[in-house]
Amino acid sequence: MINLGILISGRGSNMEAILKSIKKGKVPIKPVVVLSNKPDAKGIKIAQKLGVKTEIIESAGIKGGNWDYDRKIVSVLEKYGVTPRNGLVCLAGFMRIMSPEFIRHFKGRIMNIHPAILPSFPGLHSQKQAVDYGVKYSGCTVHFVDEGVDTGPIILQAVVQVKDNDTEKSLSEKILAKEHEIYPKAVKLFAEGKIKVKGRKIVIS
Ligand code: GRF
Repeated sequence: MINLGILISGRGSNMEAILKSIKKGKVPIKPVVVLSNKPDAKGIKIAQKLGVKTEIIESAGIKGGNWDYDRKIVSVLEKYGVTPRNGLVCLAGFMRIMSPEFIRHFKGRIMNIHPAILPSFPGLHSQKQAVDYGVKYSGCTVHFVDEGVDTGPIILQAVVQVKDNDTEKSLSEKILAKEHEIYPKAVKLFAEGKIKVKGRKIVIS
């Protein structure tokens, strides 16, 4: 059985979608810990209500990409059994860049959700970038995390239409609904051993 650790910084709605889909059953993965870098993250209470252990490792004042900070996350994850051998780490609105050391440690076992069809609109405020650019379609991407920003192999994507009257807010809502569908799906595929990485391509069996 794979042990799942979810990293959040705020609302935690993707985390909630993942945990609820696991609770419904048939996903061979055990959510062992939800970890936040912000003590006031709303998702912490949601995780507790869903019966998952929570941890806070405050990052205020510590720049992203800092291995001294990230190694604390590694030791907490490993304390709960999320290891490079049998773990999966899901970044779900975790608003920090991970260090190369962290990424290498959990190589091929870190997923992220991004609110755009990568490689379009990486980085922050993707929904605003999409509205401002005038694209007719946007969406979301679940990908493995590599050492770049939003550049890792793509696991699943879902598309939404961008209407003329869409705003950053309305588009974000449409995309979020799709995020809640594809992130749990990707976790299930991983848990079932159905994701194969071939170079930068993912093949799903
Ligand atoms: C989502 O839009 C996700 O795509 C992005 O951060 C947001 C997190 O939302 N990476 P939530 O905390 O899961 O509700």
